[in-house]
Amino acid sequence: MIPKNFIQDLLNRLDIVDVVERYVPLKKAGANYVACCPFHNEKSPSFTVSQGKQFYHCFGCGAHGTAIGFVMEHGGLGYVDAIEELARGIGVTVPRETTAQVQHKVAPDLYEVMQAATRYYREQLKQSPRAIDYLKQRGLSGEIAARFGIGYAPEGWQNLAGIVPDYQDASLLETGLVIVNDDGKRYDRFRDRIMFPIANVRGQVIGFGGRVLDKGEPKYLNSPETPLFEKGRELYGLYQAQKSIRANRRVLVVEGYMDVVALAQHGIEYAVATLGTATTPYHVQKLLRLTDQVVFCFDGDAAGQKAAWRALENALPQLVDGKRIAFLFLPVEHDPDSFVREHGQEEFERLLDEALPLSGYLLRELSAQVDLKTQEGRSALLERAKPLLTAITAPATALLLRKEVAALAGITQTELEGLYAIKPVGAPVRRAPQKVMRNELSGLRALLRCMLTRPELVHELPVGWNAEGSDAATVAAVVEWLRGCDFAVSTASIIQQFQGTPHEAVLARAEADMLQWGEEFVMEEFNGMLAKLREEQRRQQLQALEAKGMKGWDEQERMLYRQLLQRE
Ligand code: UTP
Ligand code: MN
Repeated sequence: MIPKNFIQDLLNRLDIVDVVERYVPLKKAGANYVACCPFHNEKSPSFTVSQGKQFYHCFGCGAHGTAIGFVMEHGGLGYVDAIEELARGIGVTVPRETTAQVQHKVAPDLYEVMQAATRYYREQLKQSPRAIDYLKQRGLSGEIAARFGIGYAPEGWQNLAGIVPDYQDASLLETGLVIVNDDGKRYDRFRDRIMFPIANVRGQVIGFGGRVLDKGEPKYLNSPETPLFEKGRELYGLYQAQKSIRANRRVLVVEGYMDVVALAQHGIEYAVATLGTATTPYHVQKLLRLTDQVVFCFDGDAAGQKAAWRALENALPQLVDGKRIAFLFLPVEHDPDSFVREHGQEEFERLLDEALPLSGYLLRELSAQVDLKTQEGRSALLERAKPLLTAITAPATALLLRKEVAALAGITQTELEGLYAIKPVGAPVRRAPQKVMRNELSGLRALLRCMLTRPELVHELPVGWNAEGSDAATVAAVVEWLRGCDFAVSTASIIQQFQGTPHEAVLARAEADMLQWGEEFVMEEFNGMLAKLREEQRRQQLQALEAKGMKGWDEQERMLYRQLLQRE
């Protein structure tokens, strides 16, 4: 493992401009550098590098990160390899901590344990006629089973004792392969199940889904979240699908393991599945970076409809102009697996070509919920459309949808923008920064931008204040991490720290804000915010005291109450 402050140190010594320039010619533009983005096709440059703050951000496709992230993404390297390459470039050796010194970190051998389990389950499949029959009866060939590494976990409570030197080793628990009961006794999580290994994009197995062969509950048992496996970030089948996604320039998102496998069996190799969770913004971002077209195809039932709408909501902030997101609704009785088995590849792909574009789906659902003939209905439409429309940052898409919703409601685009208090699309980005900034970057989003720009500001935040609102979790995580750092932290190391976490998307927005607004008004804005925070904290404290009731106060609380009232 690489010590944390080495990463910080490395980021301090590198210049991201040098690193990026090795691959992409940069042009100076104001305080920053720009280029045509190496991660997506574009004609005018939206890829921006901040030399001052040592990070990059593409306003077109959302790619972003530090020098380490750039080398990983551009060179297709893993984290450790990227660090080693960068360190070599400036003549520094990478120090290592032994695993014992490291906490909360992925021990490298967890991957090995998962690989051993995969191998074991695959061997067991060969020896179980019952499991083989099950797969055959579901229409799968041996070739497809091998492509997805499908296996079988036999009956028995401690079969995995045979694959590791010590069944009591922590790694079996950490990978979620075994469970401890209340008496401290261990047993295998997966027993008598068909095993679907879940791989990351490098092909390493990070989790499993296990299906019962007959009737039984639960139908699918999945690995828990582990240091290797975070459901909201992974997609089943992505490793196997990558090549086909590139070749076909599209990806199909479905709900189930069997859907992915059956589609591949019928020649549709560009399908991936969410892992029993909703489609997250991170999923969408990941897929849009890979390709230009994402089609969601969920089951025809009510649950599938709900999943589709969730996918739409989470896709909106990730939309990129020129990329296509569409939805395919199958007949109610079908899922992709049963449909492709009954109707075949050609018919399925014909439906895919006709899938409903995201905008059409959004407008259809919105207008179905209300009665557009009445004024109440049109006003309800505007109310429901607001969170959806305001979530879109892709300019052309935002513009077109605003126009359409306005037209449905019988108002103009300008009236709609006035009503929602949002900036007109297409307006120049940087006019009268002071004023625009105030309106645009409200609350926590602005606070994040301040802290990213000047991490040391964290120490001025009131202790015990709890962030509330949409970006609160990210603010809380950043504040907590910064407070716990025993070294001076740079912007780049915050970005690096939260790369690949659920907070990445929120931070990416703050990075974009930084590039757009620069540093001019950071202090002014921070001080304004601090005043607001203190006021909010005062309100929280007063409320708590009043809820407790005057009779229950001790001397200190009485004093606090008086002070709080005086501050009004
Ligand atoms: P479905 O119930 O639609 O199953 O669950 P399926 O994919 O059609 O499976 P088959 O065809 O009966 O084998 C869709 C997905 O939801 C998750 C799994 O990821 C599954 O693939 N799921 C479902 C679970 O995690 N647990 C369950 O008990 C059921
Ligand atoms: Mn199914």
